[in-house]
Amino acid sequence: MTRAHLTLHPAFPVGPIDRRLFGGFVEHLGRHVYDGIHEPGHPTAGPDGFRRDVIELVKELGVTTIRYPGGNFVSGYQWEDGVGPVDGRPRRLDLAWHSTETNRVGLHEFHDWLDLVGSELMLAVNLGTRGVKEAVDLLEYANVPSGTTRSDQRRANGREEPFGVTMWCLGNEMDGPWQVGHRSADDYGRLASQVAKAMRLVDTRLTLVVCGSSNRDMPTFGTWERTVLEHTWDDVDYISCHAYYQEHDGDLAGFLASGTDMDAFIDAVVATIDHVRAVKRSDKRIDISFDEWNVWYFTRWNEQEGTFAIDDWPVAPRLLEDVYTVADAVTVGGLLISLLNHADRVTSASLAQLVNVIAPIMTEPGGPAWRQTTFHPFALTSKAARGTALKVTLDADTVPTARYGDVPAVAAAATTEDGTVQLFLQNRDTTTPATVTVDLSGFPALSSATATGIWDDDPYAANTRDDPARVVPRANDTAALTGGVLTVTLPPVSWTAISVA
Ligand code: AHR
Repeated sequence: MTRAHLTLHPAFPVGPIDRRLFGGFVEHLGRHVYDGIHEPGHPTAGPDGFRRDVIELVKELGVTTIRYPGGNFVSGYQWEDGVGPVDGRPRRLDLAWHSTETNRVGLHEFHDWLDLVGSELMLAVNLGTRGVKEAVDLLEYANVPSGTTRSDQRRANGREEPFGVTMWCLGNEMDGPWQVGHRSADDYGRLASQVAKAMRLVDTRLTLVVCGSSNRDMPTFGTWERTVLEHTWDDVDYISCHAYYQEHDGDLAGFLASGTDMDAFIDAVVATIDHVRAVKRSDKRIDISFDEWNVWYFTRWNEQEGTFAIDDWPVAPRLLEDVYTVADAVTVGGLLISLLNHADRVTSASLAQLVNVIAPIMTEPGGPAWRQTTFHPFALTSKAARGTALKVTLDADTVPTARYGDVPAVAAAATTEDGTVQLFLQNRDTTTPATVTVDLSGFPALSSATATGIWDDDPYAANTRDDPARVVPRANDTAALTGGVLTVTLPPVSWTAISVA
């Protein structure tokens, strides 16, 4: 039996949990928007073409902000194509995903959809093929009440009130050679600073996110962040992080421990932010927006690259439709633990993505929508993790991994609100249960514990169209609270949420 002991106390907080930590991401990619959230003619679709069954699942998932419309897509996107009468909208080549973009969904339609799901818009501007002018035009269109060409165009297009979008991303992954219009850190930093300054002249309420590295393995990682922040320090509020994980060469324990990589990623970017702050002798706060994170089996895209003909730009092709397993869900749960443990510096994050494309929600055209395994840890955490994140002191046995060496067998995060405690635990041991004890003597009023988790005899079990409830949250009846000490046994390859009240 693996053992772990945790201590937490209300006097030792990490910081308040920003609800934007539980954001999502919708990109015009594959069957995400078209034949995903928008499918006119589907039995559940309203007159607006949006599937109501998908809307209900998105609400259940509990995503707070939603980043839109990309992703790589945004670096070639012309927002003007997506406004005005739908039938007059142009069809364009989407260079990012080698598809045809019909523009039947644009800013107005997507905002209407967000109103239905109850989430906040986080809008990205195109800094790949475009620049200051087009970003300011879009902001004028979205946020100026009336009396200018762009704002009156919005009103003529049926939206009297401004959209009032406050959170904006200054491009996407501009360090990536795959990105249309990618730049050096110097070039991008200068451009982002100019765009941010111009946008703030239009609207002083904005929260702006500058692009960090596409991932921690980029050759420019670190110097990119430093250079970009040197240029934009006075202009932005956030720098982004992106990370995707997958199991390599049968190293299941290493895959489950992906949160240790996310921890190191965040710590490195925090160190760079603090370095630039010190050099600038500034007391300004810049946080991390971890606005793309998930499990993603990249091979399922690479296999398709280069196979398209010049006249073959499909509309809404099946791309990146990863089917997730129990192990993937346990890893997603571990990544959420990492985000919670950095709640003082990571105050915005987006699970990438939402529907059909590396997504917690899947759909079939004309058919059902269902929850993937990864849906469950996200939904449970978004619902339960409120108030303040607590520092967790962890004393645990270790498990060997090929990727990260020996790592703690158990990962943990804790939150507290109104005197109650929520625990989030992951057992990375692939064969052995873990017995966990938690010192809760700092919370003398607590008396009961309820545990729910994801595990299975087969760590590669998945939900499918034909068996959508193969993997669902299960009650863990081993949780007990006695004399201020909680004990629980975690099955191998498991993620568990415990509510202590
Ligand atoms: O989420 C899929 C893609 O991953 C996004 O378009 C891009 O930003 C990242 O590389």
